[in-house]
Amino acid sequence: MGLEVTASTTPLALVEATVVLPIGQDGQLERIAGIEPGVAERLARAARSIGLAGRVGQAGLLPPIDGLAAERFIVVGMGAEHQRSLADVRRGAALAGKLAGEVGASVLAWPIVAVSGSSSAQVAQAIVETTALASYRFHRYRSGEGGTRLRQLVVLGEGAEVEEGIQRGRLTSDAVCFARDLTNEPANVLDPERLSGIAWEMAQETGLACSVYDRALLEELGAGAILAVGRGSRREPRLIHLVYRPDGDVLGRVALVGKAVTFDSGGLSLKPAEGMERMKGDMAGGAAVLAVLRALPALRLPVEVHGVVAAAENLPDGEAFRPGDILRTLSGKTVEVISTDAEGRLLLADALTFAVQQGADLLVDIATLTGACAVALGRSGSGLFASDDSVGQLILQAANEVGERMWALPLWDDYRELLKSEHADLKNTAGRWGAAINAALFLREFTEGRPWAHLDIAGPAWSEQATLFGPAGATGHGVRTLLRFVELWAERRGAAE
Ligand code: BES
Ligand code: MN
Ligand code: ZN
Repeated sequence: MGLEVTASTTPLALVEATVVLPIGQDGQLERIAGIEPGVAERLARAARSIGLAGRVGQAGLLPPIDGLAAERFIVVGMGAEHQRSLADVRRGAALAGKLAGEVGASVLAWPIVAVSGSSSAQVAQAIVETTALASYRFHRYRSGEGGTRLRQLVVLGEGAEVEEGIQRGRLTSDAVCFARDLTNEPANVLDPERLSGIAWEMAQETGLACSVYDRALLEELGAGAILAVGRGSRREPRLIHLVYRPDGDVLGRVALVGKAVTFDSGGLSLKPAEGMERMKGDMAGGAAVLAVLRALPALRLPVEVHGVVAAAENLPDGEAFRPGDILRTLSGKTVEVISTDAEGRLLLADALTFAVQQGADLLVDIATLTGACAVALGRSGSGLFASDDSVGQLILQAANEVGERMWALPLWDDYRELLKSEHADLKNTAGRWGAAINAALFLREFTEGRPWAHLDIAGPAWSEQATLFGPAGATGHGVRTLLRFVELWAERRGAAE
């Protein structure tokens, strides 16, 4: 992908690129090998003269200075070393990346800074990851693009830890950008068939097992819910199944399940026209699952990971499924359709059953499932529902480490009553109150009592505006958390052995 990343032990004084200068709370330059005290003091004074005192969130440009080779400097406030966190490094890296973009820098050099309680691998990872995410663009349909972009990031530091951090940062940011690309891709280009083709190609490249169920195979399987959701579109639905199998012992089996509605018009329960274009992004959960599976082989974890993605396009048509229809799901349970716009939970119902049939010890699904979740938590955080507290805690720990916002919401059993149907086992909506919770309770019906967690990413999957961490559009939310979660879960299974 876009950004080339290297490590270098060149003394900072000799680096010709745009160079980042971290300054601490006291307004002093960080200790950087190869800068003489006199030069450091001159730089710090120049930074103070433009109002940069070293607070996190501050950043600014300085012109070249005698005695150093850099073409310009980006001064970044990093706060006091003893209270500095990885989140501060990410913030600084995003700000530096933004300034680098504004001045048209093509090579950016970043000296490793000290963060108490974090290794230099983690710091290097945070710098690489954030710079790559902040400089991501989806410009493949814009004519005449590709001029002045940040091409190269040079991490100034040495040792195996720094190298390892760089590799990790590249792996995670590539995964997020892969998910963003898929989600930004319009529905006329990326339909369920194309998505399954991409999954297949990616499996060949990375050594994952892959099977794809088309309409005929879904019929054979009995996945009545996926088939119903896809019925209104000539672009037929697919179920994508990927498997990462470790070489040695398998300490556990987790299934990551994703919703991939390549376009959600609402179907016959048609959505309002305003903002409907955003519903090309209703496959962000499925994209996240594919991105995680693609990155996993490089981590060599001793757990088996299944990726199950249900892909369909939800359109109104003479053949489309209707409100009032009763579907037989893969589980055997019947569902009365109240709204064809509550299609995500129908896809996930069959996908979760499929994952159970694969023998998963743990199910984690991710989906742009309800507007209500975005209303509750806003646009930056996702809702986490977990049937098992320890799994929920582990996901929150992962989210916290990687800097994604997730918040636990309840699975109140008595709300289950609202999903009862007169003529079927369940109905697919339960009115407007608590819609995110009801959707989660609906999904739980298809988990066969296995430990399960559900991430509703309707809010954070898509950003209306550019943020520090990327442009407007798909965010790739959830990818880094899930990658870290699988790793933590593998560690825990290992410790329990
Ligand atoms: N894909 C939508 C949810 C959504 C809304 C995602 C806004 C991102 C932004 C989902 O399929 C949907 O339509 N949900 C309905 C459920 C309702 C019919 C119970 C909703 O949230 O309104
Ligand atoms: Mn919908
Ligand atoms: Zn949807």
